[in-house]
Amino acid sequence: MTSEEKFKKVVSHAKEYGFVFQSSEIYDGLSAVYDYGQNGTELKNNIKDYWWKAMVQLNDNIVGIDSSILMHPTIWKASGHVDAFNDPLIDNKDSKKRYRADVLIEDFIAKTESKVKKEILKAKKKFGDKFDKQQFLETNNRVVHYQNKIKSIHNDFSKALENDDLIGMKKIIDDLEIACPVSGSKNWTEIKQFNLMFGTKLGASSESAMDLYLRPETAQGIFVNFLNVQKTGRLKIPFGIAQIGKAFRNEIVARQFIFRMREFEQMEMQFFIKPGTQKEWYIKWKEDRMKWHLSLGLGKENYRFHDHEKLAHYADAACDIEFNFPFGFKELEGIHSRTDFDLSNHEKFSSKKLKYFDSNDNESYIPYVLETSIGVDRMFLAVFSNSLCDEKLEDGSSRTVLKLPAILAPVKATILPLLKKDGLPEIAKGLVEKLKTEYRVSYDEKDAIGRRYRRQDALGTPFCITIDHQSKEDNTFTLRERDSMIQERLNFDELLKKIDSAVSIKSWI
Ligand code: GAP
Repeated sequence: MTSEEKFKKVVSHAKEYGFVFQSSEIYDGLSAVYDYGQNGTELKNNIKDYWWKAMVQLNDNIVGIDSSILMHPTIWKASGHVDAFNDPLIDNKDSKKRYRADVLIEDFIAKTESKVKKEILKAKKKFGDKFDKQQFLETNNRVVHYQNKIKSIHNDFSKALENDDLIGMKKIIDDLEIACPVSGSKNWTEIKQFNLMFGTKLGASSESAMDLYLRPETAQGIFVNFLNVQKTGRLKIPFGIAQIGKAFRNEIVARQFIFRMREFEQMEMQFFIKPGTQKEWYIKWKEDRMKWHLSLGLGKENYRFHDHEKLAHYADAACDIEFNFPFGFKELEGIHSRTDFDLSNHEKFSSKKLKYFDSNDNESYIPYVLETSIGVDRMFLAVFSNSLCDEKLEDGSSRTVLKLPAILAPVKATILPLLKKDGLPEIAKGLVEKLKTEYRVSYDEKDAIGRRYRRQDALGTPFCITIDHQSKEDNTFTLRERDSMIQERLNFDELLKKIDSAVSIKSWI
């Protein structure tokens, strides 16, 4: 299966099994806005719970808050978002389509890179065992030409990005003769900066209404509550404030399903530290966050760090944790050393003191901040796409199985009476009643048992519990494990123990 086919399968599976739907679908949808279905909501809630427990419950010095989406508009002036939260946009005069200029260039680079890959594949086929990749890369004229071209574009592009040089960026597009994917023409406008924040109004009458923004990140709700939380919680530095909530960005290039959305959710944590200690905390949080990701068992090879060359307006160091999505390695989480940029600016713009008194060192200062920020929806896509697979079975048949980490699975176990008679449904429903106070469980009596197993495999349910005639005699059940498909006969206590150890946080973090 090519990566494109795999991605299509991810999108269609998410819809078919009640995980993710296009928003407003019956009205032909709203671009880059999605709704989570009955199973997607459970999976999303479990992801948020796993993050919250790791951050707040397991760290004595991190607390959680829930701030509002609407905030005073000056907050976005102070944070720099009004002036600097922009994307460089360019319009094609013939198709009237709008693009992100940086994405047009990145796509051109990706296309050239795939040409190199194609040449390598062709040569591999031609030369077989004798193929020497390194030698080929260094000596094949066409490949050398492509590689030099990529290097030179990278060079010019990084310089233009670093200097916010829109004219330089336009020159790259013109020089490379990049054409509009819709009209095929190279008839471009100049590049303009476009602010990504959504505006809205507060107040009933148009004269008195106040212009507001929907928050583009949850972080600012933490900064403006920093002293409230510190004082009421009697917290001492170093300490953290965590938050999960919606954020909104008017993304121009919104594609790749739930990877880039206009309304999405973030899980952010701001860790307040003494100025000068940011380097060691940056290293510590990089390690901690990678450990959290690896604990879910999606494969070490699917993660990598990517250090930012161009730092955001608030950071003195920053990196991404990238994940190997079906369309390649892309940002999943950001880790930023935000200095005292936000708190200092809020102090300036609000004229309220935001200093912290450090009783250990007998001094007051504005703390520095280390931020970890991950999109819930991107995490969902990472887990979902990594877990979805087609398997060939020993008997020649095949199955689609969603090998979700059991702790994140929407339903932990489903109870299946072998037959719809002989008192088996009653025993099965009794078992549902006993289990449902502890775990999310389901009941299914329709179709042959094999088809019911397949249905649960596709939903990612880690356990199927079958009730048969023997259950009536000795109160034992058959437990089938999703990934190995191994079945064992267990009594109720053994069953509980098995499910508990698979879905308890102690077994994961
Ligand atoms: N407070 C810092 C901040 O917001 P960011 O790198 O812009 O930093 C953090 O965003 C994370 O939020 C990203 O790593 C990504 O997981 C998620 N994210 C950002 N924009 C998104 C979008 N349009 N759709 C889905 N997730 C997004």
